[in-house]
Amino acid sequence: MNEFYNKDIISIKDFSKDQLEKIFTSTDKMIQLDSSQRREICKGKTLGYLFYEPSTRTRLSFDSAMASIGGNSLGISNISSSSTQKGESLADTVKIMSIYSDILVLRHTLDGSSRFASEISDKPVINAGSGTEEHPTQAIQDLYTIKKEKKKIDGLKIGIVGDLKYGRTVYSLLYGLGNYDVDVRLISPESLRIRSDSTYDIKKNIDFTESTKLEDHIDELDVLYVTRIQKERFPDEEEYLKVKGSYVVGQDLVNQMKDDSIILHPLPRIDEISTEVDKTKNAKYFQQAEYGKYTRATLLGLTLNENGF
Ligand code: NCD
Repeated sequence: MNEFYNKDIISIKDFSKDQLEKIFTSTDKMIQLDSSQRREICKGKTLGYLFYEPSTRTRLSFDSAMASIGGNSLGISNISSSSTQKGESLADTVKIMSIYSDILVLRHTLDGSSRFASEISDKPVINAGSGTEEHPTQAIQDLYTIKKEKKKIDGLKIGIVGDLKYGRTVYSLLYGLGNYDVDVRLISPESLRIRSDSTYDIKKNIDFTESTKLEDHIDELDVLYVTRIQKERFPDEEEYLKVKGSYVVGQDLVNQMKDDSIILHPLPRIDEISTEVDKTKNAKYFQQAEYGKYTRATLLGLTLNENGF
């Protein structure tokens, strides 16, 4: 039996290095299959999604990943049109969705929401973003992108810049990187530094430094991971305005980067990477989005097939 069969994907911390590497190998295989072979993998299976927060990429990439392996998707992407508005609890909504589908994908504003859902659902649950806590499938996509584009993860110098306080992709990425031998530079405004309740965990596995200046590190990085300031998570608009536009990666900064360095972003981008950077060979964020479709198809294929694919 494949070890991912019927398992929830709630936190990247639940994955060992060996398991991550297995997922990457399976993703390579997924990419190599021709489309008719791929369509057999989840034929007749249904993915149910519940998105309590806006999303474009994540929901569509699950949708298109499921379609590419022969399955279908149904769900609620706009919670204001659902029975939640009538007062239905998350628990009941999850229970009902798990009747209609073979696997559930949940995005919710609350930390812990996916873990909670997985305790209620009879079907496996994939966390597609739980509050400011985690976004494990994004991290798998990010690590896979680094591996493909840099041919390795060990030994790299990785800068993570932007909103390190509220950005859940940052936490999942850092926990995932903890399996590798990397040097990390965390760069953020003072008020958006990594949350101290997580630094303890991260410090156990990763060497990192913290700073506010991207210019100080730009020329030493192999990977620059840029994040959006998470406006919707700020308790107060004033606080957001103070840090809005703190970092903008433009051509001037790219010119200072190592020739073979790569720039990643989980997207959506607001203004933190200028569009002029898109055409540079360092810009890999759209490629990263494409890899996300394959890593998600792989996760679905492994979770839904006892013998893998
Ligand atoms: C991220 C998220 O939802 O956390 N988006 C995504 O899934 N690619 C990042 C963000 O919203 O900034």
